[in-house]
Amino acid sequence: MTPERWAFLGRYAKELFEDDELDGITERARAAGLPQIAVSADVGRLLQILTLLTPGRLALELGTLAGYSGSWIARGLMPGGRLITIEYDPRHADFAEGEFARNGLDDRVEVVRGAALDVLPDLAQRLGPESVDLVFLDAVKTEYIAYLELSKPLLAHGGVLVADNVYATGQGWIDEGYGTDEFNRRVAADPDFDTTITPMREGLLIARKR
Ligand SMILES: C[S@@+](CC[C@H](N)C(=O)[O-])C[C@H]1O[C@@H](n2cnc3c(N)ncnc32)[C@H](O)[C@@H]1O
Repeated sequence: MTPERWAFLGRYAKELFEDDELDGITERARAAGLPQIAVSADVGRLLQILTLLTPGRLALELGTLAGYSGSWIARGLMPGGRLITIEYDPRHADFAEGEFARNGLDDRVEVVRGAALDVLPDLAQRLGPESVDLVFLDAVKTEYIAYLELSKPLLAHGGVLVADNVYATGQGWIDEGYGTDEFNRRVAADPDFDTTITPMREGLLIARKR
């Protein structure tokens, strides 16, 4: 594997899984000046498939941004299923709500505004234990352990936990002291989860709750 081949394969996967509707979100988000830090199309597709492999009744996302990954997850929900996605930045939340409406997903997606650690306790009360089929962590990387503690009881048995950027954050890679080493070790050692990490983008952790 060379850096050139890695870059080519990234472009190749993007081309394979491009989707006009979802690419439109990326283009409008770029034009609106939102940060370009959404998941890639192949990761989005994986989120959809993982959601489809669960009963798809309820999904929870931390870190909405423009609604790109949320739209992939929403596509994997069963009819009548719901996605709740938490976003701290009101500009991102407004933008994402517009995109969910534009793409006809607003009937199944709720954007909850606020910092994940502030809103999760009340949300947990509202949703109840073992009610969520898929949790996607993509907000503040240094808070992943706290997210795990709050979201694990919400996950149904057979539910899936996904976390992005587990090998690197924007600042650097895990061997340079970045990424989510303690979180990764904690999930990997947790007997309640069957866990792996794929090297897609900057590392995507996937864990199924037993
Ligand atoms: C990497 S982006 C999410 C990308 C999105 N999941 C996607 O792939 O389309 C992280 C998002 O988390 C939001 N965020 C930052 N701090 C947060 C917090 N404490 N709680 C919830 N969201 C937060 C940021 O404003 C940003 O929109």
